[in-house]
Amino acid sequence: HSFIVVVPAAGVGKRMKANCPKQYLTINGKSILAHTVDRLLSHPLIEKVILSLGEDDQYFAESELAQRDDIIRVDGGKERVDSVLNGLRAINAGEHPWVLVHDAARPCVQLSDIDRLISQCIENDSGGLLATPVRDTMKRGKKDNKNISTVDSTVEREQLWHALTPQLYKTEQLVNAIESALAKKIAITDESSAIEQAGLMSLLISASHENIKITHPDDLVLAEFILNKQKS
Ligand code: C5P
Repeated sequence: HSFIVVVPAAGVGKRMKANCPKQYLTINGKSILAHTVDRLLSHPLIEKVILSLGEDDQYFAESELAQRDDIIRVDGGKERVDSVLNGLRAINAGEHPWVLVHDAARPCVQLSDIDRLISQCIENDSGGLLATPVRDTMKRGKKDNKNISTVDSTVEREQLWHALTPQLYKTEQLVNAIESALAKKIAITDESSAIEQAGLMSLLISASHENIKITHPDDLVLAEFILNKQKS
């Protein structure tokens, strides 16, 4: 097998409060997007990356990534799921029966975790995703207010996981699952949620906590620390 990775990179990164989309912020002089793509393409089983980019993206064309022939560019969409679907449609499922999807904002993913995701999924003939077991005590708030709320209840954390990426699914099943969820107007925030809606199995593969998604300004400092640590 060789694999294609769809990388949704069409978000604006509003929560980052930066003056460019967060995937173009730099760490050690290199954009987050370039860190992520280089890491993925350094995996021996990964052949190509399909990048879903925003329509008004002015940064990609000027970057070194634009010169590479192992990167295919497609248009992103309104939501992450639309960007992923556009990427998936560029794949020939006959040639690539399985597909990985990975957030542009996760440059610290480890190759050994990608190895385990691929080998476990193929061995079990099931799609799956990298995930970390929840460590904190979890509370459900009474109101949907991000600044202050009262506690409704404590949520049993034994079975709770954080969903990360990459996520690996059979190409045809994933396209069908996403299209059918979109037709039913079900909110899809990751590939696994579409697969679950379709009644298919999804494996949770325990992964490193270093695989953070850069969302807030603080995460940039943490990602720099992790990337430097991984180099040494
Ligand atoms: O905003 P968030 O960090 O959850 O986005 C996860 C990933 O999805 C990011 O890599 C972002 O660029 C991508 N995305 C996208 N198209 C959108 C929204 C987000 O490709 N419309």
